Amino acid sequence: MVLGARDHDRTAGVSIAGERELETAIAVAREAGALLKENFGKVHTVGYKGRIDLVTEMDRRSEALIVERLKSAFPEDDVLAEEGSGTERGRERRWIVDPLDGTTNYAHGVPIYCVSIALEIGGRVALGVVYDPHRDECFVAERGRGATLDGAPLRVSATATLGESLLSTGYQYDIRSSSRNNLAEHAALLLRSHSVREIGSAVLNLAYVAAGRLEAFWELSLGAWDVAAGALLVEEAGGRVSSPDGGALDLAAPSIVASNGVIHEEILKVLQEVRAR
Ligand code: IPD
Ligand code: CA
Ligand code: CA
Repeated sequence: MVLGARDHDRTAGVSIAGERELETAIAVAREAGALLKENFGKVHTVGYKGRIDLVTEMDRRSEALIVERLKSAFPEDDVLAEEGSGTERGRERRWIVDPLDGTTNYAHGVPIYCVSIALEIGGRVALGVVYDPHRDECFVAERGRGATLDGAPLRVSATATLGESLLSTGYQYDIRSSSRNNLAEHAALLLRSHSVREIGSAVLNLAYVAAGRLEAFWELSLGAWDVAAGALLVEEAGGRVSSPDGGALDLAAPSIVASNGVIHEEILKVLQEVRAR
């Protein structure tokens, strides 16, 4: 029997997704992204999941499409989807879906948003696909096999110091009531870098770190769907992902620092200094 590259990865003990999973995730992310773009700028029914946590009918329509496609292609797999239409039965394989990352942008007519689909196998993310329909950019990462943007290999930036870096962050929806609201961290890192962006899509921030457009991204409280695909993109592009204390990322309650690796310790130090105040 002749072994293919994927079989070699499997025998080396790396959890990798098959060709069908990869192709399906890309096709579904593109289809959902096209649906979002087609309806962008139209009047939407905006509901509130929290005080400033918006949800539109397009979050739900995108999720319905993705979940339907994944369930029909892989009926044995679990699906965790942000708006709650997935099914979890403790299976070995779980798809993790953010049907529209950047809902606040989308609802206000700002064209910065994307679709994120990841596949976790045995508790480790094996595949991540992020699709930005406005720029028609498709980011793909496979564990142990690298990350690409529209088929071209991705590499994090080589910037050596925090002082020369462009960073990004985001705010959780309970910012008005949470004592850990990220404002002090934002101020501290803004004064030590080229600048800090808040573009309103955690997923795109992570894809941009993987692409070397940003040196790092951090956010203190996210969902698994915000980071599953993007964190793999950063790692597979040669970067580093951790929690703000330097430990492993907890997908169940993610608090994340993702960087080009080189400036990671500098960022952790600043975040720890702020926390100790
Ligand atoms: C949000 C965005 C935002 C981040 C929030 C996320 P959503 O996701 O990624 O940038 O700051 O914490 O919840 O609600 O647009 O899918
Ligand atoms: Ca999100
Ligand atoms: Ca979302």
